[in-house]
Amino acid sequence: MSEPIIEAIGLQKVFRDFWRRPKVKAVNDVSFTVNRGEVFGLLGPNGSGKSTTLKMILGLLYPTSGQLRVLGRSPRDVKTKARIGYLPEESYSYPYLTSQETLSFYGMLFDLPAGERQQRTEQLLDMIGLRHARRRQVGEFSKGMARRIGLAQALINDPDLVILDEPTSGLDPIGCRQVKDLIKALAARGKTVLLSSHLLSDVEDVCDRVIILYNGKVQALGTINELLEQKTQYRLTMPEVSAEGLQRILAAVRAELGNEPAVDHPRRDLEQFFLEIVEKARQATTEASGVGPASGVARYLAGDEVLQQLLKTPESPAPAPLSAAQQQAADEKLRKLVEPPK
Ligand SMILES: Nc1ncnc2c1ncn2[C@@H]1O[C@H](COP(=O)(O)OP(=O)(O)OP(=O)(O)O)[C@@H](O)[C@H]1O
Ligand SMILES: [Mg+2]
Repeated sequence: MSEPIIEAIGLQKVFRDFWRRPKVKAVNDVSFTVNRGEVFGLLGPNGSGKSTTLKMILGLLYPTSGQLRVLGRSPRDVKTKARIGYLPEESYSYPYLTSQETLSFYGMLFDLPAGERQQRTEQLLDMIGLRHARRRQVGEFSKGMARRIGLAQALINDPDLVILDEPTSGLDPIGCRQVKDLIKALAARGKTVLLSSHLLSDVEDVCDRVIILYNGKVQALGTINELLEQKTQYRLTMPEVSAEGLQRILAAVRAELGNEPAVDHPRRDLEQFFLEIVEKARQATTEASGVGPASGVARYLAGDEVLQQLLKTPESPAPAPLSAAQQQAADEKLRKLVEPPK
């Protein structure tokens, strides 16, 4: 059985004006369940109620009506809050603290012992590619750099539920890819991720299921495949063939269908192309300002060594070969990861 982490039933939020007259129905009868280890996306145009829904799950706003349980408890329970990491839509940070001090400060809010705090801070700075900027004040950071600090802050307490409001806003394509890899790695470790975004391609890349909101109402809910697969059409991809070979294939298809099929070349996606070009440029230069190369996932988030190796992103240096015993342990872990949760 999958374990529900968020359960929302008939959730409603009405913002009232000064005289308590209903002004905006920001969230209107929204129901959904998010299970452990799932990446769940909230999609919708501006003002459709995404942030309001997230804030109710965080216990920052009271629902006007409906039921909401987060990690098996009320969202306002302090014990629930300690297990959640949150990246707000706008990162609020103290401009005069350095990036290291900022993360350490949030670690203190979660009562982490000094040693653990320092360790996690260092690992997170490596993870977001800001190790070289650890002594710079956050107030001087570019938008993308500040966003990375916001993301690291959301993970300092090693949360079970990670809530990210527009996680890739302001990030360059490399940052977006890293954040997406991180989200996948967190989910593979059994963490639950709830995110909102306007960037449809990002959502398509990482989310298992999505909900589309409009005017506070659920318009669609399902897995990406359920929502996007066009079951009444087929696409055939094949290796290179001679011009005559292709003509013969097309003639056969034409004979079967009675009309002309559409033929084109598959295209690489722009993100992949961009990443390859930048990687080439990075190898050709010795020093870069801004964000440096990031190093996979912070060790404490990725669990033990073996899992860390499994989760290495392609941009990271190649992992050392595993010993036979480690390989066996890795196979066992992989099996557990891909097995549907009981
Ligand atoms: N504190 C508030 N007081 C009054 N109205 C609010 C408040 N917060 C949000 N709203 C209204 O609720 C509706 C939903 O807002 P919300 O911030 O949830 O949208 P969103 O989907 O996150 O939009 P965006 O994509 O722009 O971030 C909007 O009409 C907004 O004006
Ligand atoms: Mg919003």
